[in-house]
Amino acid sequence: MLRLAFLFSIIFAHMSFTSPLQGTEQTLSIIKPDGVAGNHIGEILSRFEKNGLRIAAMKMTRLSKNQAEEFYSVHRDRPFFEGLTTFMSSGPIVVTVLEGEDAIKKNREIMGATDPAKAVKGTIRADFASSVQNNAVHGSDAPETAKTEISFFFDKDEILR
Ligand code: CMP
Repeated sequence: MLRLAFLFSIIFAHMSFTSPLQGTEQTLSIIKPDGVAGNHIGEILSRFEKNGLRIAAMKMTRLSKNQAEEFYSVHRDRPFFEGLTTFMSSGPIVVTVLEGEDAIKKNREIMGATDPAKAVKGTIRADFASSVQNNAVHGSDAPETAKTEISFFFDKDEILR
């Protein structure tokens, strides 16, 4: 019996590290090299928090060219791939796991359209992005992508509550 309780406590501890709270979702956000170089980290993070998203994990890092190519491998055949991966490995980035109700959709609304010229006023990209490539932030676009992208940057025990 004691052994069973011990086993459950280990399973529960593991789940409380890794799984989003019931009814919530996790998404990956990157403040790109232009957002970091422009000193916009604090402002961007505060927009996530003010809109009800919780930061469940965070790190500042710098991607190598190879890592940027791996992260954006779905775009490998696009004409902008070379420029994008050179840009993404050009300086430090801030990577976060955001958690909350409908976090993927909510984050994409807060970010605004990929092309800042088309982004709604008051969104991160409308305010801080300078081009479709240098567009300040990245956010996962679907639950499966979020899972893959989160595990690209974080071990399970780095996601906390
Ligand atoms: P992101 O949300 O990180 O997803 C893929 C990235 O590719 C995108 O933001 C832009 O930075 C970049 N991207 C998408 N379309 C173009 C384009 N037409 N020209 C240059 N970069 C692009």
